[in-house]
Amino acid sequence: MWNLFKAKSNVFLGVDFGTSSIKVVELLYDNDRTHLKNYGWIDFKKQPKKDDANNLNIVLDTTEKNNRQMNLKNSLAVLLSAMKPESHSVYAAMPGISGLVALIDFPQMDKKELDKAIQYEAHKYIPVPLDEVYLSWDVVSRIKDEETGLLSLYNQKNERKDTKKNKNKKAMQVLLVAAPKDEVENYENLITSLNFKMTSLELSMFASARSLVGDDLGGYLIIDIGADTTDIILVDRGVIKINRIIDVGGNEVTKAVASSMNISWQRAESFKRQKRGIIFSQNSQLIIPALDLISGEAIRTIENYRHKSLTDVRIDKIILSGGGSRLSGIDKYFSQALNISTEIGNPWKGIVIDKNIEKKVKNYGTSLAVAIGLAEKGIKDFQRN
Ligand SMILES: Nc1ncnc2c1ncn2[C@@H]1O[C@H](COP(=O)(O)OP(=O)(O)OP(=O)(O)O)[C@@H](O)[C@H]1O
Ligand SMILES: [Mg+2]
Repeated sequence: MWNLFKAKSNVFLGVDFGTSSIKVVELLYDNDRTHLKNYGWIDFKKQPKKDDANNLNIVLDTTEKNNRQMNLKNSLAVLLSAMKPESHSVYAAMPGISGLVALIDFPQMDKKELDKAIQYEAHKYIPVPLDEVYLSWDVVSRIKDEETGLLSLYNQKNERKDTKKNKNKKAMQVLLVAAPKDEVENYENLITSLNFKMTSLELSMFASARSLVGDDLGGYLIIDIGADTTDIILVDRGVIKINRIIDVGGNEVTKAVASSMNISWQRAESFKRQKRGIIFSQNSQLIIPALDLISGEAIRTIENYRHKSLTDVRIDKIILSGGGSRLSGIDKYFSQALNISTEIGNPWKGIVIDKNIEKKVKNYGTSLAVAIGLAEKGIKDFQRN
């Protein structure tokens, strides 16, 4: 999103600033191959104490601005001094919830006109003064003749009318990304204060899409289930088209288990992690409501995009990600709820891992997907230069 410096070395450091943890992955690119060099993560959000188990609404709120900033800095300092990464230039991501992504239709125009038009249009999509945010944008689709032709195949009755309407009216789609200047600067200051350099900063969803979908041109819905939030990302023909973030994540499941079984947060957390097939067991009624909130939003996201889209939309697969996707049976739940084939993402594809740690690392599943996607951005930039 915002590239500040050019990468020189062939070692790349991805830092995923989540809402409840920081995750770091260092990748080495050598002889056309990508190797895992180093990784680590730290959870900085305090879990509620034992006594809170029956009153889980009083979870310590460390998202309050100053607290979060301090937590981030202390946690990252501890993590980096333990990891001792070789690279000191950071490819970072901030939580999707910190920014805003909007898909805007424009008539065909050249770059200069578009730059002007965006400055003019952006305020309709961004609820704060424009001088308080950094903006970036990209044309993500142009309606070509053959595409309008394709559309008319689906809409034979109105063939002529549709083709005409699409050619004249909505000719290109632009993905607008905005993030608050003060937050962007906070992340940069934090990295600099630890004697590292911020090379690039993006919203986490871009890194997820890079590590889980890559250059594949199919239609995918990534559902990144984090601790307190879930990021739903629709990727169509290699570009993010729409995203939604909801305030429900894996912790919602823990909370439901803890309060209905009357056990502590810690016990509920380990119960949830260990119980095989938990979603389809007799405990299912505890967990399903939280998952239904996520699948309901996923369905609305697809419908919304279909409604907005100028051509046919096909979602080939649901890709689950984030720590929340490690819940046993969750892929089966989503494939049934959405009636779309579902798999747990594999961000490790094409990455060479030392034999001694391979099993352990792969067991983390998609937890490191964002951090991997960030370091991969370094590799992509490096290949291009
Ligand atoms: N083995 C497991 N089984 C079930 N749930 C798990 C497992 N491991 C982690 N989780 C859940 O995953 C969630 C944390 O996910 P993740 O690490 O992706 O969050 P995060 O990246 O810190 O948050 P965010 O992306 O919202 O900023 C927690 O709710 C945790 O309980
Ligand atoms: Mg995350």
